[in-house]
Amino acid sequence: MRNIAIFASGNGSNAENITNYFANNTEIKVACFLCNNPNAGVIKRAEKLDIPYLVFSRDDMNYSSVVTDFLKQYDIYYIVLGGFLWLLPSTITDMYSERIVNIHPSLLPKYGGKGMYGDKVHEAVIAAGEKESGITIHRINEKYDDGAIICQKTCPVLPNDTPDSLASRVHDLEYEWFPKIIEQDIISLSKS
Ligand code: GAR
Repeated sequence: MRNIAIFASGNGSNAENITNYFANNTEIKVACFLCNNPNAGVIKRAEKLDIPYLVFSRDDMNYSSVVTDFLKQYDIYYIVLGGFLWLLPSTITDMYSERIVNIHPSLLPKYGGKGMYGDKVHEAVIAAGEKESGITIHRINEKYDDGAIICQKTCPVLPNDTPDSLASRVHDLEYEWFPKIIEQDIISLSKS
């Protein structure tokens, strides 16, 4: 079994969608969630889905083995960042190397970087008069939204779009593509 851990800071709709996608898979499963915000919606989703979860602080992540111990406890092979807003420390990235992916709600390198998340991204895309937006699924490195791109999918930005309406179109792309790309990536990493 290839076990996935999903890190999320907010609502967690991608975390739920990915968990459901793999629910009947006999080789890949979502084993746990990790969250840095005790009030985040993703925690309610973990409880509903009966997925074990860890809530951790920045000190837990950067200066203790709380997070790495949890990943070891669940025998985690692959990490998914689904709306996770902190940079991972080298203690985690060294352990997982190429086996960490992030999703970003724009066509990177546009509208990425520190502080660019969620609605802030969609507001900037609309303010710039872009005709197209979309999603980027990429590996991570020591910078925000900067690692090698695995896949991008596009959608139109419509004349009357609000950040919410654009977010909803982008979320649809995320729900369709993120689980499939994760599955393909795990299969290809497992062969190499
Ligand atoms: C998603 O749209 C994801 O692309 C974005 O946060 C949202 C989380 O939604 N990630 C970033 O902005 C990362 N820089 P969710 O909590 O409902 O899955």
